[in-house]
Amino acid sequence: MSESGARLAPIAVVGTGTMGRGIAQLCAAAGYRTRLCDVDMATAEGAVEGIASSLQRRVAKAKLSAAERQATLDRLMACDDLTVAVAEVGIAIESVPERLDLKLQVLTKVRDAAPPDAILASNTSGLSITELGRRLDAGSRILGTHFFNPPPAMPLLELVRGMHTAKATIERGLALAAELGKTPIVVNDSPGFATSRLGLAIGAEAIRMLEAGVASVQDIDRAMELGYRHPMGPLKLGDLVGLDVRLAILEHLYREVGDQFRPPTLLRQMVRAGWLGKKTGRGFYRWTDEGPVPTDPRS
Ligand SMILES: NC(=O)c1ccc[n+]([C@@H]2O[C@H](COP(=O)([O-])OP(=O)(O)OC[C@H]3O[C@@H](n4cnc5c(N)ncnc54)[C@H](O)[C@@H]3O)[C@@H](O)[C@H]2O)c1
Repeated sequence: MSESGARLAPIAVVGTGTMGRGIAQLCAAAGYRTRLCDVDMATAEGAVEGIASSLQRRVAKAKLSAAERQATLDRLMACDDLTVAVAEVGIAIESVPERLDLKLQVLTKVRDAAPPDAILASNTSGLSITELGRRLDAGSRILGTHFFNPPPAMPLLELVRGMHTAKATIERGLALAAELGKTPIVVNDSPGFATSRLGLAIGAEAIRMLEAGVASVQDIDRAMELGYRHPMGPLKLGDLVGLDVRLAILEHLYREVGDQFRPPTLLRQMVRAGWLGKKTGRGFYRWTDEGPVPTDPRS
């Protein structure tokens, strides 16, 4: 894959799974030469092919011209060598799995190979940006860039400021959001940032309401969908994300923030039962071929 277009310093995206490829697509579409780096060439090239197909679907729907698609693809470069990927970049965004040790390992290599003023960005959903910055000994350049799934479609970019993050780093994050057509919010590093903390507050309360017999699964979800225009109710969202994942974030928030995030007993029981939501076919809904059917998990 060739790399063309020299308007802006290139961006490297390290980790090209669900989120990384979407972030890379966004950056390339906005005019950035974008390197997609993964553990091997086949994975990185697979991500570029995934982007090519996704853009082709937009061309078929007349939402994008064939020339724009090609121009975006021309700005992408698949790569399995992190040193090559981060050469001359203005910003490197890691989007590898949510493990502190792995993120530190990747960001250390990025720090050592990228230009000394490059922004070191992490797409973590909840790991401490302050801790990442301290352990990298590059706190002024670290920034949380929390994108939402799927990155090309979701309008929000949550920028997370660690305790050492420089003002200039935040300003570059805000400029990036503008370039990518995203609306940014700036949040101080704290457990769950703003998005996970608010989402889990509603999600946990919805489960407690179900436990207390306040309303059915369907009616609790409808309360938020029709009363507050949420595209999806909190119980169905939990099923989609995975109830084990929701429980792990709640445990973290309970430890760090306090009692309001104590995981509901029903959630623990469902996870023990293996009812994890869509991925296991059963959660607050039964996930059938015809679509989700609300169920009472206690019956
Ligand atoms: N999935 C979501 O909805 C979502 C939403 C917001 C944020 N996040 C966060 O984004 C990050 C990535 O999540 P994902 O769902 O895209 O994960 P994923 O498992 O789909 O992709 C991770 C990618 O990283 C690659 N990788 C692993 N080790 C690597 C290494 N040493 N060097 C280079 N590449 C490596 C893997 O091969 C894989 O392609 C996580 O921190 C996650 O918490 C995920």
